[in-house]
Amino acid sequence: MKITMIYGNSLQGVSYHYGEMLLSKFPKGTIVERFDANDLPSFCLSCKNCILKGENRCVEAKKTQTVFASMLSSDLIVFSYPVYALNVPASVKSLLDHLCYAWMVHRPNEDMFKKKIIILTNSVGMAFQQKLAIKSVRIAMNWMGASYVRAFPVGMMGDVIWGSIKDDSVKKLDESASRAFGWYERNKDKERMKAGTKFKFFVCKKMHQSIYESSTEVSLDNQRFLDKKWIKAKKRPMSD
Ligand SMILES: Cc1cc2nc3c(=O)[nH]c(=O)nc-3n(C[C@H](O)[C@H](O)[C@H](O)COP(=O)(O)O)c2cc1C
Repeated sequence: MKITMIYGNSLQGVSYHYGEMLLSKFPKGTIVERFDANDLPSFCLSCKNCILKGENRCVEAKKTQTVFASMLSSDLIVFSYPVYALNVPASVKSLLDHLCYAWMVHRPNEDMFKKKIIILTNSVGMAFQQKLAIKSVRIAMNWMGASYVRAFPVGMMGDVIWGSIKDDSVKKLDESASRAFGWYERNKDKERMKAGTKFKFFVCKKMHQSIYESSTEVSLDNQRFLDKKWIKAKKRPMSD
């Protein structure tokens, strides 16, 4: 079994320890690839090369593709990050931005369809304010085709300095990590794409079929859908 762990910062603080608590629940021999904020790609330059010319034409391709290759070869992908300004930290958002080309509207990778995703979030305030921070990652994973995405938010209620953290707060994080582990154990063998994701993929296939049939050139996105036989290769009215 392999896990990709993506930390939203590079501090050995709450997010790091919360993530490590979850990892400690898995059996010995589990392969873990860790990435922190320093390993994540810098901001997208909006060149659109990833979408139009190929993902390796991005100036941040080395970092992005290293993380994505790890994600694709893992059974479980974990994000562990603090809430910033009621949202996801820019480090994680930047990774998500660089992976837009792999959304179902562009060139999804079918290896993502069966992935289990755990989102561990924490904030100085209460957990209910973490909705937006969770939603950003949940939506991105879902549009990349992953149906099994679950968040485990913890509100630290002011106790966020790891060096002086109270035992009760550590216990709270560990209990939440145990719940996350339990969720994975219950869902690890599930492979069927859930209805909502299936519907999105269905709409994307229809969209790609229509674009393919009405354009003179086959885009990279269309080519992937053709290669995977997600759309039908038909004679197009404008191609002769
Ligand atoms: C720039 C910044 C913005 C933050 N914004 C919020 C926020 O909107 N709401 C909140 O409850 N906590 C906020 N926090 C607190 C962090 O979520 C908190 O410090 C986190 O629990 C600590 O995790 P860490 O040790 O991994 O950094 C913010 C912290 C920083 C540094």
